[in-house]
Amino acid sequence: MKWFFILSGLIACTGKPVRSSCPVKMSPSRVVVRFGDPFSVNCSSPSNQIQSMGWESPYGTGIGRQDGVSSVSLKIDSVTDWDLRPLCFINLLDNNQCSEILSVTVYKMPDSVSMSQPSQMGPMVEGEKYRMQCDIVNVAPVRNLSVSWHKGNKMIYTEAFDETSPSPVNTSSIFNLTAQRSDNGTQIWCEAQLEFSPPVPNLHTIPSKFHEVVVLYSPTFTMPENETLELKASSKIILDCTATGNPMPVYSWHLPNTIQQTKKNKKENQPILAPSIQLPGTYTCTASNTQGTKTKIFTVVEVTRNRTTFAALVGVFLCVAALLFISGFFFVTPEGTFSFSKGSYLRGRPTSSGPV
Ligand SMILES: *[C@@H]1O[C@H](CO)[C@@H](O)[C@H](O)[C@H]1NC(C)=O
Ligand SMILES: *[C@@H]1O[C@H](CO)[C@@H](O)[C@H](O)[C@H]1NC(C)=O
Ligand SMILES: *[C@@H]1O[C@H](CO)[C@@H](O)[C@H](O)[C@H]1NC(C)=O
Ligand SMILES: *[C@@H]1O[C@H](CO)[C@@H](O)[C@H](O)[C@H]1NC(C)=O
Ligand SMILES: *[C@@H]1O[C@H](CO)[C@@H](O)[C@H](O)[C@H]1NC(C)=O
Ligand SMILES: *[C@@H]1O[C@H](CO)[C@@H](O)[C@H](O)[C@H]1NC(C)=O
Repeated sequence: MKWFFILSGLIACTGKPVRSSCPVKMSPSRVVVRFGDPFSVNCSSPSNQIQSMGWESPYGTGIGRQDGVSSVSLKIDSVTDWDLRPLCFINLLDNNQCSEILSVTVYKMPDSVSMSQPSQMGPMVEGEKYRMQCDIVNVAPVRNLSVSWHKGNKMIYTEAFDETSPSPVNTSSIFNLTAQRSDNGTQIWCEAQLEFSPPVPNLHTIPSKFHEVVVLYSPTFTMPENETLELKASSKIILDCTATGNPMPVYSWHLPNTIQQTKKNKKENQPILAPSIQLPGTYTCTASNTQGTKTKIFTVVEVTRNRTTFAALVGVFLCVAALLFISGFFFVTPEGTFSFSKGSYLRGRPTSSGPV
């Protein structure tokens, strides 16, 4: 049956010699019009062999055959059909006829664009996949619809549709979002747009409402490695257990057994510990939230004996030197009689004052 039509079509085409090029010019050459709006189009021919020409269309003015003209114009006041195919025909003096169908695209902006997610947009969990859905209601033609997904200031996905229906449809775009901690606090939304070439001026994109993403993730230490710290007389040790996480992590510390943990100095919920009593041992910190618990170990060691002795010696030496210097400074008379001070150094400073 199908083949019969195709064959008869071929015979019709070949049997009746149709000019390879129909001398018809449409102006504009194609029409993109909003449902309900007007448009007009001119069909003209440069041929001087025209007997008559006209438009075939169920709507509009300027339809029907007109004799002895070289152009006919069709005017439709309000487009009320989604699938318009007006046809311009020319009857030539040699009894041949040629015709061309005007390409008309009738569009309608969506009534609404909205985003939904099965779990109704509660907080997400890092690493989990979420099926996000963007619903576009009553848009035409869907083959010129483009839906884009945005996260923060980035476009993350676009979708085109290859259905051919010229009349309005409801459709949706699905985007699988894998929640990342960096997504926390960002906004996500979808947008619908009709795309034509050449573009139709003043055709806006329609965005859905924003959704603010909340991503829950387990604590992660800003300095992840276990640490070994050396106890030095000169400086206090600081144990940094800071972790990021959503919700905010809660900290707890386990101090070496040698440190008496009274209620007062029990270190709870603080990310950084600077113990007032400096003792070697193993300090354990845990950071936890609803998504998990992480542990970090600080090993505090005393520096080895040799180095301690050396450091002590250096310390003592420096102290003595300093004492000598200070006493020299304060107790030496301008004449510089104290033998252990460098008189030459101080002689130049007669204003030296001291409790002499
Ligand atoms: C069609 O042609 C008429 C007369 O030539 C002109 O006034 C009119 O603006 C044209 N319309 C279009 C849509 O080109
Ligand atoms: C599209 O959805 C709207 C509202 O949900 C409904 O009224 C309309 O009938 C639907 N249209 C089609 C073509 O399914
Ligand atoms: C989203 O995930 C579902 C299954 O979870 C899959 O069938 C679908 O193809 C995915 N969609 C995209 C756009 O990746
Ligand atoms: C996650 O985002 C929420 C909402 O913007 C914000 O209140 C919260 O501080 C963020 N949390 C983290 C850990 O970034
Ligand atoms: C509509 O979209 C189709 C497919 O992308 C494209 O070929 C066609 O040119 C578009 N229509 C217009 C009027 O731009
Ligand atoms: C820290 O030490 C603990 C116990 O020795 C070990 O289980 C853990 O893997 C270490 N963590 C890192 C980041 O090296």
